[in-house]
Amino acid sequence: MGKLDGKVAIVTGGSRGIGAASALALADEGADVAISYSSSAERAEAVVADLEAKGVRAAAFQADQADAAQAAGLIRRVAERFGKLDILVNNAAVGGGGLLGVEPADQAAIDRQLAVNYTSVVAAVQAAVPLLPDGGRIVSISSGVATRAGFQGMAYYTGTKAALEGFSRGAARDLAHRGITVNVVQPGFVDTEGNPADGPAASVFLPTAAMGRYGRPEEIAAGVVFLASPQASYVTGAVLRIDGGYAA
Ligand SMILES: NC(=O)c1ccc[n+]([C@@H]2O[C@H](COP(=O)([O-])OP(=O)(O)OC[C@H]3O[C@@H](n4cnc5c(N)ncnc54)[C@H](OP(=O)(O)O)[C@@H]3O)[C@@H](O)[C@H]2O)c1
Repeated sequence: MGKLDGKVAIVTGGSRGIGAASALALADEGADVAISYSSSAERAEAVVADLEAKGVRAAAFQADQADAAQAAGLIRRVAERFGKLDILVNNAAVGGGGLLGVEPADQAAIDRQLAVNYTSVVAAVQAAVPLLPDGGRIVSISSGVATRAGFQGMAYYTGTKAALEGFSRGAARDLAHRGITVNVVQPGFVDTEGNPADGPAASVFLPTAAMGRYGRPEEIAAGVVFLASPQASYVTGAVLRIDGGYAA
């Protein structure tokens, strides 16, 4: 018996990294899991095969989260395919934007980042609310930089994650009467293709983490599963830091 037997979850950006680990961890607790991706179709199908090997239903959906209409449509497609939706995990995000005042701003990239990291999350939540049952779960992956910028070059990304967190607090208030919880996970530095532990940024990041190491995607996924579970029924509007002490 899993904590999430009979539940249906969607994890955006589930083709690799924290999203894939979260999808697999939700499936370990018995949930049927849909994942989305923008371009990594083969990677997404490999994750689906791994999910199905755990004995749950799974599917991958291409949906570019830079487009709010696609983000909302994804939610409806998942509910149609699986018959319902219980858990929304907003994970897909992009980084970048450059060093403010030093590097020329790429406004198109900054706008796209805001769309992927914030605007489309709002669209997905709006689409999910009428579909979620009372007691449904919304978990969004933010970043430790939303609270503590920590180092240079993160201003645009930090702004999107702070917006995500503000929206999540407001949504928690609005949806509490239905028992739908809305929470945020703040990862620190996690070894993924988006931020490899052997990449050039590691020497900047590592001194800021009390534990002096990168996290593993599975360490973030454990928090996602807790917040998605019935055991977290009195947790809403919260930020769960899983950051190796970055904020300590
Ligand atoms: N890794 C870290 O150190 C770290 C730290 C703090 C917070 N986070 C947060 O954790 C989450 C996951 O990060 P990660 O490091 O696992 O990322 P990642 O390795 O770069 O993977 C990103 C995932 O998002 C998908 N994605 C990207 N753009 C998309 C779009 N426009 N539409 C739909 N899907 C899209 C990617 O699929 P495609 O390949 O198909 O595009 C992929 O599945 C993000 O919210 C990130 O901000 C990460």
